[in-house]
Order: sequence, then C-alpha cells, then structure tokens
Amino acid sequence: DTRILEVDPSSIKEEILAEGSKILKNGGTVAFPTETVYGLGANGLDPNAVKKIFIAKGRPADNPLILHIANPQDVEPLVMEIPEVAIKLMETFWPGPLTLLMKKSSIVPKETTGGLDTVGIRIPQHPIARKLIEGAGVPVAAPSANVSGKPSPTKAEHVIKDLTGKVDAIVAGGNSDVGVESTVLDLTVEPPTILRPGGITKEMLEMILPEVAIDPALEDKNFTMSPKSPGMKYTHYAPKADVTIIKGQLDKVVDEMMAVQKKCQSEGRVIGVICTDETEKFFGNHLVKSMGSRSNPKEIAANLFRILREFDETDVEVIIAEAVEETGLGQAIMNRLMKAAGHRVLEV
Ligand code: TXA
Ligand code: MG
Repeated sequence: DTRILEVDPSSIKEEILAEGSKILKNGGTVAFPTETVYGLGANGLDPNAVKKIFIAKGRPADNPLILHIANPQDVEPLVMEIPEVAIKLMETFWPGPLTLLMKKSSIVPKETTGGLDTVGIRIPQHPIARKLIEGAGVPVAAPSANVSGKPSPTKAEHVIKDLTGKVDAIVAGGNSDVGVESTVLDLTVEPPTILRPGGITKEMLEMILPEVAIDPALEDKNFTMSPKSPGMKYTHYAPKADVTIIKGQLDKVVDEMMAVQKKCQSEGRVIGVICTDETEKFFGNHLVKSMGSRSNPKEIAANLFRILREFDETDVEVIIAEAVEETGLGQAIMNRLMKAAGHRVLEV
C-alpha cells in the first residue's frame, strides 16, 4: 500500500511531512518533489533501504544514486575530503540543481554508489524536499521517481502513475519548476567535468571555475563512446512512439516538419508534433504540443517531460520534435530530447 501525502508547497503542513520523514528514518521509500524533478528517496546509508529504490524503479544496480542533504555541513562525513573548488560551488549554487561528485567515505555503502568509489551529493532547493530530508536526519538517496526508462516526473500524478503500489509513500506537492534534472559535475578530475548537463548551465559554472569540461562521450556525434556517468548510457525518457528530432535553420526545420506531418497523415499514421510557440501555428492543432517560447529555455525545460508523457496517453505512432539552440539550458534540453529520440536526428 502506498500512502499519498498531500502537501501544499506554499503552506507546508509540518505534521504531514513528518510522516514522510519517519518512513525514511525507518528504512522505507518516499517519493517527493524537488525543484528539478520528483525523486524517490530512501536512507542513503542503509543498503537495505537503498535496494528498495532499485526494485521499485526496475533500475540497474550499477547506476549510482545521488545523496540529498539539507545542510552544507552534512557533506563532510560522506566524503574523503572536500576539494577547494567544491566550497565555492556549494556557496554559489546550493541549494539548487547541481550535484557534486567527490570521493566517497566508508560510511556510504556501495549499493548507493553502484559500486563506484565516488558519491554525488546535492542540497535541493524545494522547501518540501529540504524539510523532509531535515526531518529524516539522514542523507536521502534519490533518483528520479519514474519507472526506469520513462521520462522523469515533474508532477505528482506522474509519480502516482509510475510508483503506486511500489513505494511506501508519495508526497504530492505540486510541480517541479526546473523540469530537467540536476547538473552532475565530477570534482575528482581536473578540470571539473560535466557528466550530465542540467539545471545549472556550463556558462553558470564558468563564472566560478576557470575551466569546465564536458564528458566527451556526450558530444560524440556517433554515440559510440561510453559515458562516465552510468545513467547516461541507458535509453531514457523514451515515449512509446518513435521520436525524430529535426535540426537546422528554423525555416527549413518548419518546412521539413510540415512535410513529414503531411506525409504521415496521408499514409494514415498518427503523428505528434513537439514544437515551440513560434512555430506552433504551422502544424494545425491536432496532436501538436508547444514546449514554450524559443526565447525562454526555462519554460521549455519545465514542459518537456510532461509533454513526452502526455503523448504516451495518445495513440501517436510517430513524433517529430523541433531542435532548440544548444547553449545555456538548451544543452540539457537537447540532451534529454536526444535520448528520447534514441539519437534519431534529421539535419536539414
Ligand atoms: O535533479 C536530480 O538530480 C534528480 C532529483 C530527484 O534530485 N535526481 C536524479 O537522479 O536525476 P537519477 O538517479 O535519476 O540520475 C542521477 C544521475 C545518473 O545518470 C547517475 O548515473 C549519475 O547521476 N550519478 C550519480 N552518482 C554518480 C557517480 N558517483 N558517478 C557517476 N555518475 C553518477
Ligand atoms: Mg533518472
């Protein structure tokens, strides 16, 4: 049985959240909202609790979990040492969507880190997440609260759909505003390296760090290199329909998308379109969903996973998606879209 704990993020009822904290403290599993996406939490220092997360999600055991903490001083016992750069990054970007990888200490079990000797840690910004973790009094291991392979949940209803009957409780607490997961930054290498682009952009990190690298596997056009972050190698965010991204100069992209849409419709195939506010008018209104304005990547990030999930509720067989600029938050958006498309891109 899964308990649903309704909490209004703008007026948090402490006694309801305390129920969730208690479940975590006692070794159970609780899904909860963060500012990026919903997470599925358990005591990150308890191998038995952590195993329940892997089972509920159907997650491969070699895919490490991020530890969520409530206060910066909670980092120290979890790592061998805190590198100099980490302190500046924590001061600037915590609480927020930045996960820092450091060498783990012996109290962090291998089950949590997928057998690796590094551990990813972040302080989420969402008030429900922070209160819940604080109340639990332990670092909370939490991957995104979706069944493995599905788009990450940005609404309580997504989690309820994926995990009811599989977890002890779900805190239903509104929408996740950022909409894409945290940036995973490896601090065990020089220069610090982005293993997963996310809510904190490379440009933002470069304001603090003299140099920031990106895992070369993420930029490998042939997708033959193995990413350093185990989670990045799995197909992910994949809707049931086949997704193709159309990329290039915007007017050509629109022409191509209109042509593909027309062709599919004439063949009697059900086609969905993922576009932007600027291009929406070209596609009619049947199974057409705008991610937001091209001038507002934050809006696009916030809507992407919801739209991918909405198409799963329809009978679309094919989806075509408009590419966006790969700068700033666009890097994370295109990374997720590429995974949803299984790297199928048509350049025009
Ligand atoms: O925004 C987020 O990060 C969300 C919310 C709930 O906090 N969490 C999340 O967790 O996205 P998950 O497990 O779905 O994704 C974590 C990613 C995976 O790609 C995993 O492989 C990578 O981070 N990761 C975690 N620890 C790692 C480590 N020690 N070394 C390399 N990659 C790691
Ligand atoms: Mg995930």
